[in-house]
Amino acid sequence: MSTGTLALIIFVVIVLQVGIFVLVGLYRQKQELRKIGLQVDVEPNFASPASQPVESTTTEAWSGFRKFIVQRRVMEDKAQSICSFYLTPVDGEPLPAFKPGQFLTFKLQIKDPVNGESKNIVRCYSLSDSPQPDHYRVSIKRVSAPADHPDFQPGRSSNYFHDHVKEGMQLSVKAPSGHFYLVEEEPLPIVLVGGGIGITPMVSIVNTLLNSGSSREIWLFYGLRNSADHVMKEHLQTLQRAYKNFHLHICYSRPGEQDIEGVDYQHKGHANIKRLQLTLQMKRHQFYVCGPRAMMESLVPALEEWGVANEDVYYEAFGPATLPKHKKSKPQPSKPVEIGQEITVTFSKSGKSIIWNPDAESLLELAEDNDIGVDSGCRAGSCGSCQTALESGDVEYSQEPDADVEIGHCLLCISKPKNNLTLTV
Ligand SMILES: Cc1cc2nc3c(=O)[nH]c(=O)nc-3n(C[C@H](O)[C@H](O)[C@H](O)COP(=O)(O)OP(=O)(O)OC[C@H]3O[C@@H](n4cnc5c(N)ncnc54)[C@H](O)[C@@H]3O)c2cc1C
Ligand code: FES
Repeated sequence: MSTGTLALIIFVVIVLQVGIFVLVGLYRQKQELRKIGLQVDVEPNFASPASQPVESTTTEAWSGFRKFIVQRRVMEDKAQSICSFYLTPVDGEPLPAFKPGQFLTFKLQIKDPVNGESKNIVRCYSLSDSPQPDHYRVSIKRVSAPADHPDFQPGRSSNYFHDHVKEGMQLSVKAPSGHFYLVEEEPLPIVLVGGGIGITPMVSIVNTLLNSGSSREIWLFYGLRNSADHVMKEHLQTLQRAYKNFHLHICYSRPGEQDIEGVDYQHKGHANIKRLQLTLQMKRHQFYVCGPRAMMESLVPALEEWGVANEDVYYEAFGPATLPKHKKSKPQPSKPVEIGQEITVTFSKSGKSIIWNPDAESLLELAEDNDIGVDSGCRAGSCGSCQTALESGDVEYSQEPDADVEIGHCLLCISKPKNNLTLTV
């Protein structure tokens, strides 16, 4: 055999080996994606056009509450504090699509541990997966009593979900809603910042974009304590390996002894403005932020100071425990009220008339400060539980309500009086 023939055979063998190696790699990747439920025919070069529309059905959203059955529960973290619930409609009809970032509203009947009476509790939970034709998924964190008040009753809805909502059980659910969602009109690079349980809408956005074959650059900064709280770790790592346009930055604020930098997480510290500045190029991005109060209060204004236009920042707070007191706007000095110009708020059922305090955040706060019992859940205009009938007068909203408001009613948590007001409470 001549040297040339031998070289040719060696060359062919090497090419064959490389080919087999690549094929096995691709096969494994497809298996991984299939395992986590993402589309498998997307090759990792992502030559697909930017921002393909998310597949949607034409099914109309339902009004009021619809019955869903819990098909599956899956614990998502080592600490077993976050559980996903897979829900299918009892009527078996198709589900309307939703925009990733939106949430479902649940009405639960929960017994008060003190007096044993059942009470309706309304809570919102973000959809945590891309739209699917036959089921929705939400992922719920068990909320304990605050560290400085261990005597308080732990979170009612979240603990009810963890302890009592089993597979096969039925739940009352409102159609997906919410104004925090992926904006697809402008195919800008996307920066998602999720802190703690604020990761849920971000996973929905990531899954939706990657599933649609979008070539938009996506950065996900996920801030959490350490691997014990790390939600959907394997899923996110699989996506990172599979998609070149998906950049995962896990930030552990307090890594555990077993946690390895570069393996379990990328950065020690918080998912804050410094981390974004060190990572991102100076160009226009769309920012989506959802996380605990401290993160929202620092990051949202810091983005503005960094020069990010308001129109490129979308954010959502997750209710009382995490709602920032002051959002983007700087605190306004309180306006002096001239004598005779005060606004009186009358709570007709309680028989109380109170002069409106212009420094109060909302009518809900005014009611609570004066021991007037009003239901509330999210305190952010999302769940609808503080909806109250207006007998007379007008209110103005500090933000657009996410919940549907009946005519002649208002959401106390996000409204202030414009003039003298009478409320049926
Ligand atoms: C749009 C939106 C999306 C959301 N998405 C998610 C999601 O995807 N996943 C998720 O897990 N959560 C999400 N949330 C938060 C969720 O809706 C609930 O707010 C959360 O589960 C806590 O509700 P709970 O009924 O368990 O707690 P609550 O009963 O409302 O209690 C909240 C806290 O108050 C404490 N407390 C009890 N009594 C008192 C008292 N007297 N004074 C002061 N504090 C007291 C409790 O101990 C607890 O720490 C979302 C919220 C919104 C608005
Ligand atoms: S408390 Fe949820 S809308 Fe007001």
